[in-house]
Amino acid sequence: MDATPPPAAVAQPADRLTDRLGRPVEDLRVSLTDRCNLRCRYCMPREIFGADHAFLDREELLSFEELTRVLSAFVDLGVSKLRLTGGEPLLRKDLPELIAMLSPLSGLRDIALTTNGILLPRVADELVAAGLQRVTISLDALDDATFRAVADTPLSVEAVLAGVDAALAAGLSPVKINAVMQRGVNDDQVEALAGWARETGVILRYIEFMDVGTTNGWVRDRVVPAADIVRRIHARWPIEAAEPTREGEVAERYRYLDGAGEVGIVASVTRPFCRTCNRARLSAIGELYTCLFAGEGHDLRAVVRGGADDAELREAIAAIWRARSDRASELRAEGGLSGPRVEMSYIGG
Ligand code: GTP
Ligand code: 5AD
Ligand code: SF4
Ligand code: SF4
Repeated sequence: MDATPPPAAVAQPADRLTDRLGRPVEDLRVSLTDRCNLRCRYCMPREIFGADHAFLDREELLSFEELTRVLSAFVDLGVSKLRLTGGEPLLRKDLPELIAMLSPLSGLRDIALTTNGILLPRVADELVAAGLQRVTISLDALDDATFRAVADTPLSVEAVLAGVDAALAAGLSPVKINAVMQRGVNDDQVEALAGWARETGVILRYIEFMDVGTTNGWVRDRVVPAADIVRRIHARWPIEAAEPTREGEVAERYRYLDGAGEVGIVASVTRPFCRTCNRARLSAIGELYTCLFAGEGHDLRAVVRGGADDAELREAIAAIWRARSDRASELRAEGGLSGPRVEMSYIGG
């Protein structure tokens, strides 16, 4: 992205694959489809993602065999954490079969799924049997009117809560909840969401509204700063900052002093965390995006379908990663983002 990156942040062993800022590739997020059964206004506004939107054709998607091959190359290069996303990944046919193919990959120590939860009651048990370890479910409001306005759906919150219950009953652990907060839209839900999460035994993470893509009408005034959220929660249930569980963790963690677990905040707008960003993203058709705010991806499907062997595939990925210097959220903080950006529903969170 920018021509003169700041010096490398972390010293790495010489043989470890790192990018131009010294960051390893450890976390791979794979979009399995660009379709979704909701139309959250901050992600897939219906005016753009309507009946005539050109979604990806099924034949274009990487097959499960191709995905397994690409993922295994990433694992060889250092990836140990996998997150399956969408759009809505539960819309991808035979998902448990894919998970069963991926879970034996040695080196992969964490397989998670990001979903809106609505289809979970039907498949949670099967996903667990196939090797899925945990889920993150998106839920931005607990009252029906706000939920319906945000997700642009006639469904009620109960549909998502049934998904949360199914995840807990199936033994997925921990269950995390992502709540994107927008001023004047759902910021009245801060305490209600926290109270519900404390009682239900799920880990809530508030997410600052981001200018991902170019269609969601992002304006800075609608961002609810992490500091405000922390202050509000602390006033109701005292919290203290907790240590990150690992380097490069996205959410800042806070512990409830009364022992009722933890809560997190993803403050990518007010406190960018690019310096430790170890995340790669793969679109459903096999393009590698090195940043959530990238304009375009690198076509790995062409490499795979072009007949590359495993070593050549690994080298193609490594070359892209070595050249990486993305730090979009820092650049936003320094003056703003410009140019085309991929949509969130195309590469997932
Ligand atoms: P855990 O492994 O459970 O901690 O999950 P995670 O930290 O990978 O979090 P998750 O995938 O649930 O991400 C939460 C949200 O943070 C996403 O939906 C995005 O909105 C945001 N996010 C995640 N990764 C990035 C990133 O690299 N850059 C930016 N700007 N935002 C991100
Ligand atoms: N800003 C912040 N988070 C977003 N998500 C989708 N679009 C945005 C946005 N503009 C979140 C969803 C979901 C995850 C996939 O990404 O709420 O939890
Ligand atoms: Fe679908 Fe998730 Fe985007 Fe909402 S945020 S439209 S549930 S992919
Ligand atoms: Fe990583 Fe890009 Fe997000 Fe920064 S903005 S943390 S570089 S994905």
